[in-house]
Amino acid sequence: MDTQLFEKVDLYISQLLAPEDDALKETIRSIDDAGMPQISITPSQGKFLQILAKLCHAKRILELGTLGGYSTIWLARALPIDGKLITIEIDPQHAEVAQKNLINAGVADRVDIHVGKSLELLPQLVDKGEEPFDLIFIDADKPPYAKYFELCLRLARQGSVIVLDNVIREGMVLEEQSDDERVQGVQKLNKLLSGHPKVTATILQQVGAKEYDGMAIAIVN
Ligand code: SAH
Ligand code: DHB
Ligand code: MG
Repeated sequence: MDTQLFEKVDLYISQLLAPEDDALKETIRSIDDAGMPQISITPSQGKFLQILAKLCHAKRILELGTLGGYSTIWLARALPIDGKLITIEIDPQHAEVAQKNLINAGVADRVDIHVGKSLELLPQLVDKGEEPFDLIFIDADKPPYAKYFELCLRLARQGSVIVLDNVIREGMVLEEQSDDERVQGVQKLNKLLSGHPKVTATILQQVGAKEYDGMAIAIVN
């Protein structure tokens, strides 16, 4: 694979169509400064999520996995003034770094970070009778992806869009005997999507600035 070419082309695309402002650049820097992993989405993926949010006229967005708030900022910027984004993050340090970045990006008024485990907080949102979300971006830990998907379906409505990051894992999804529980998690998810009566789904494989991976996209029937 000519990864160098994919990287260069991704840079070409992002410089043309997804340039980062200071707030986004500072978010990436803050992740380094805090010793957090550089596993945010790329600029071109951020722009792609923005376009999805606009396509479905998203006023309410849910995200699992905040890290430094990089994807959160891209998504929040696609919201109308009265829009709302809830992002769930298990690590209080990540949440603290993200909160600063959201303020710096001018989107803190539209975003609530909920600190806790997705598997605990999602059922709480369901029980509270939380209004359905228009767009849901799942990007937390991979082993429970299928569970996250089912829970998120209960927070969605007909026409809601659910996007899941990292469902190809450099092609490791092809390894049926993989003992990597992250790979097993996304394999289970992908299989679930293939036969699920409630959604129409596909997967886009992606190459570029980061490792070869992919996003699943589902729309609720
Ligand atoms: N969406 C971010 C990247 C998220 S990285 C971006 O693209 O900018 C994955 C994040 O999920 C990490 O911050 C990790 O702490 C968090 N996480 C891991 N397990 C979690 C869980 N069970 N519930 C919520 N967040 C979790
Ligand atoms: C990992 C997690 C991600 O969400 C990602 O986009 C890339 C890598 C990881 O846990 O390795
Ligand atoms: Mg990811």
